[in-house]
Amino acid sequence: MGNVLVAENVTKSFEGLIAVNNVSIVVKENTFTMLIGPNGCGKTTLINCCTGILPPTSGRVFLGDLDITGWKPHEIYKVGFVRSFQIPLPFIGLTVIDNVLGAMRNPGEAPLKAHSLNKWADVEEENMTHALDILAKVGLEKHWDLPSSSLGAAQLKMLEVAKGLSSGAKLIALDEPIGGVDPASADEILSHVSRLKEEGLTFLVVEHRIDIAAPFADYIYAMELGSLISEGTPEQVLNDPKVIEVYLGEGAAAQC
Ligand SMILES: Nc1ncnc2c1ncn2[C@@H]1O[C@H](COP(=O)(O)OP(=O)(O)O)[C@@H](O)[C@H]1O
Ligand SMILES: [Mg+2]
Repeated sequence: MGNVLVAENVTKSFEGLIAVNNVSIVVKENTFTMLIGPNGCGKTTLINCCTGILPPTSGRVFLGDLDITGWKPHEIYKVGFVRSFQIPLPFIGLTVIDNVLGAMRNPGEAPLKAHSLNKWADVEEENMTHALDILAKVGLEKHWDLPSSSLGAAQLKMLEVAKGLSSGAKLIALDEPIGGVDPASADEILSHVSRLKEEGLTFLVVEHRIDIAAPFADYIYAMELGSLISEGTPEQVLNDPKVIEVYLGEGAAAQC
C-alpha cells in the first residue's frame, strides 16, 4: 500500500501560539485514516497546512512523490487532493446538481470556447451523467434538482463529499463530517464514505465523535496541544493510556 499523503514535521504558529508542533503523519492509499483530539488541539490547522489553506511555518507536505508544501488550494485540488470544511460551504442559491457540476472542469468555461457549443456540449452531457452517478453514491440522487438550501445537515455534509468526488480527487480530507448530525445520519454518512473507500478512494477524516467514527477507521492519529500523542489501529489508539487520559476519560476504553 503506497503513501498518498505524507506530512513531515509540520509546524504552524500563529504569533507565538504553536497550533501544530512538529507533526508527522502518513495517509496510506485506500484507507480511512482518522485524526482525533480535543477541541483546539490543532486538527483543522494541520489539515489546513496540508491542503494549502495555510502555509506551514516549517515542515513539508507530499502528495505521493509530489512536494506540495506551500501550494495554493486550487493547485492542490488539481493534483487530486480536496477537503471539506467543518461548516459546509455550498452555493446555496444553486441546486444540488449545479453544486456538483460547478466543481467539475468544463471547457465551456473558457471565454474563447464558450461561444462554440460543439466544443463543450458533449462534455456538459458527460458531466451531467457523472454528477448524477456521484449523487447516487452519496445518497442524494433524489434531491438532485432541489435548491441546496433545502438540504438537512447530514445531506449538506454529503454534498461536500460529492463536490470532492466530482473533481476526480483521489484523496479527500473531511473536517468533522458528522459534526452536528444525529447518530443514525452520522452512521449513514460514514457508511457512504466507507463504500467510496472500497471503490478505491482514500480519506483523511478529522472527527471529534470517535465513538461513532472509530469503527470505520483503519488507522488513527491522536493529537493534544498541537502534538501527536499516539498512532496506530483504532484498538491501539483508543486503549492508549495517554489518549484515554486527555481525551476519552477514565473507563472509556472498555466501550470502544
Ligand atoms: N487563523 C488562526 N489564527 C490564530 N489562531 C488560530 C488560527 N486557527 C487556529 N488557531 C488556534 O490554533 C489552535 C488549534 O486550532 P484548530 O486547528 O482549529 O483546532 P481543532 O481543529 O483541533 O479544534 C487553537 O488554539 C486555535 O485558536
Ligand atoms: Mg477543527
